Amino acid sequence: MSRFLLIMTVLLTVSPLRAPLALASEAMHFHARPGNGLALTPPMGWNSWNHFGCNVSAALIEREARAMVASGMKAAGYRYVIIDDCWQAGRDANGNIYPDRKRFPQGIKPVVDYVHALGLKFGIYSDAGGQTCQGRPGSRGHEYQDALQYARWGVDYLKYDWCNTGGLRPREAYATMSDALRASGRPIVFSLCDWGVRKPWRWGAAAGGNLWRTTHDIWDAWSGQHGFSIGVMNILDLQVGLAGYAGPGHWNDPDMLEIGNGGMTDAQYRAQFSLWAILAAPLIAGNDLAHMDAATRTILTNDEVIAVDQDRLGIEGRRVYRQGDAEIWTRPLVGGGEAIVLLNRGTRPLRIRVTWSELGLPAYLPLRLRDLWRHKDLPVATGSVTFPVAPTSVIMLRETPVRPRS
Ligand code: GLA
Repeated sequence: MSRFLLIMTVLLTVSPLRAPLALASEAMHFHARPGNGLALTPPMGWNSWNHFGCNVSAALIEREARAMVASGMKAAGYRYVIIDDCWQAGRDANGNIYPDRKRFPQGIKPVVDYVHALGLKFGIYSDAGGQTCQGRPGSRGHEYQDALQYARWGVDYLKYDWCNTGGLRPREAYATMSDALRASGRPIVFSLCDWGVRKPWRWGAAAGGNLWRTTHDIWDAWSGQHGFSIGVMNILDLQVGLAGYAGPGHWNDPDMLEIGNGGMTDAQYRAQFSLWAILAAPLIAGNDLAHMDAATRTILTNDEVIAVDQDRLGIEGRRVYRQGDAEIWTRPLVGGGEAIVLLNRGTRPLRIRVTWSELGLPAYLPLRLRDLWRHKDLPVATGSVTFPVAPTSVIMLRETPVRPRS
């Protein structure tokens, strides 16, 4: 045996060295997947989980899809009707996944066709592990078979969860499913859901993802923790520092909207919507669209806030000021303006002052300001502006520099 072979044999058999060597070779062999050209602005839609949990059926999905159209949400830009966990019942002798036959008596395909006939798109859920978070069959070992099945059904979007994944590496497991989706030949938006545990913002796009969850599940509350789930302010804090990872085709996902689910006030729901728009977050409603009140509908269909979310520059906003309970978040927009959110996190009313230096602008510059919740232009301002902000709420503005007259 040559000295080189001897050294290599020793290196490969001495157990403490094997794991690092394996890791290094895997890192070397991982190749970044090219983008799929989808989700050039953050996806908008509805998902069954936040409101209905496991209580999903063909009738429910079709009802919610109809409501998406009738409520004006489709006109406002919402497209994906996404069925989350619990649609799956088992695999047949050939390993093909099939749905719960009581809840989906005709199978999945007619539901997808129904959603498509309304001019909407259809999303489905699976898990990288052997079982989903609710113990239904996951896609582990069936990735290509499942992707092909979704494509045959006409699926347009896949949310891919991370329960029961012992022994799997997230980047590689997600890349396998993204390869499978690509091989299916159908354009399918790919939503990664490892709850931010393995910092998916660092590798999610390279693994073929269009969006990746950055946190554990949302809880329908302003702040605090409830088991695995956390409130809106907790989620917000975890977005700091992630803006540079987002862009057209690959977005940070701070989880779905809770607007209309009853755990927060309308002002708090306006805050979630405003902050998600500043964050260039996917806008996935999580309420019962068929039974929403006027306030909920008004929030979810605010076209000026949605325009911020969908701004085609695709630059995620950042927190530029924080003192006590007062925060200012800004997001650059196409055409040279910015969206601004003044946030009062606390329980006392505050006056929040925005100075032009926080906006990265010279103090002398006159700005046009528009209030995106009151739908009103405000007087042209120079240097700074101050707004009263009620407890646990926001003011959302859009600024545009006043163009010099020619
Ligand atoms: C996880 C996900 C949720 C939801 C449930 C379904 O908790 O993070 O968004 O999909 O699983 O079981």
